[in-house]
Parts: sequence; C-alpha cells; structure tokens
Amino acid sequence: MLNKEIVAKINKQINFELYSAYVYLDISNYYADQNLNGFANWFKIQTQEERDHAMLFMDYLLQNGEKIVLSDIKAPSFAFTDFRQPAMEAYEHEIKVTASIHDIYGAAYEIKDFRTMQFLDWFVKEQSEEEKNTDEIIKRYDLFGNDAKGLYLLDSELAARVYTPPTLVI
Ligand code: FEO
Repeated sequence: MLNKEIVAKINKQINFELYSAYVYLDISNYYADQNLNGFANWFKIQTQEERDHAMLFMDYLLQNGEKIVLSDIKAPSFAFTDFRQPAMEAYEHEIKVTASIHDIYGAAYEIKDFRTMQFLDWFVKEQSEEEKNTDEIIKRYDLFGNDAKGLYLLDSELAARVYTPPTLVI
C-alpha cells in the first residue's frame, strides 16, 4: 500500500502524461498540415512516449494494489503561427512535467517512501532527456530553420527518429 497523497499525485500525473500525449499529437498534426513530415514524425513518436509514461505510472499503482482513477483529458488549444512556436511550447511543457515529477518525489521524500523515490528515479533522468531533446530542436531550428534548404534538411533528420519502448520495466 502507498500513502494516499502519493496515490493522488500519481493519478494526477497519469492524466498529465496523457495530456502531454495530446499536446504532442496536436503539434504533430500541425507540422503534418504544414508538410513538415519529419517534425510531424518526431512529435508523433513523442506522443507514444508520453502514453508509455502514463502506462508506467498506472503499472506502478497496480503493482502496489492501488486504484487507478482516470479523469478527463483537456484538449490542447494552440494556434501556431510559425514553425518555431510548437517546439518552444514542447520545451516549456517539459519543464512543467519535470516540476510535477519533482513534486511527487518531494512528497515521497518527506514521508520516507523509498519505493516511490526509486521508481521515480527513472523519470527524473528521463525528464532531463526530454528537456534536452526539445531544447535541441529549438536551437537547431534557430540555426537552420530560417533557410528553406536548412529547414528541409532538419525535417529530413527528424524523419529518421524511430520509436523505442521505455527502458523501465515495472
Ligand atoms: Fe512524460 Fe515528456 O514527459
């Protein structure tokens, strides 16, 4: 059994991860609509990763005999006007996800819930990757994206991303 506050926070995180999947799906759809299919591919794979994150949190609750409570997933309401904005939105979104995971970690730390802390270690590391990856897209866009040929090459590079399942096994 886990502490009730931790369970509530993890249930909230499940919703946040599913919302993240929605955010990236919306971004992927925007790029696909703009014929930037490499960007669209990258963000569609990001959607799959977010779904995986939600599943891992669910598996953790199940493994500990706790109840999963699913709640409504908010629809994203972006109105992008240039190609850079979605990447920036993604980066800022990841900062919020990191803060949310740190919040659960902090609560677990307070009550000496070492099991949850150990489970969250993977996510703490994963978040530094998530922030780095989205920040890299912005930086590369700033370097190459304003030139048609550069944008084409960047899009081709992002088209090469393939989905890999998470390394964490519950
Ligand atoms: Fe599940 Fe991108 O954080």
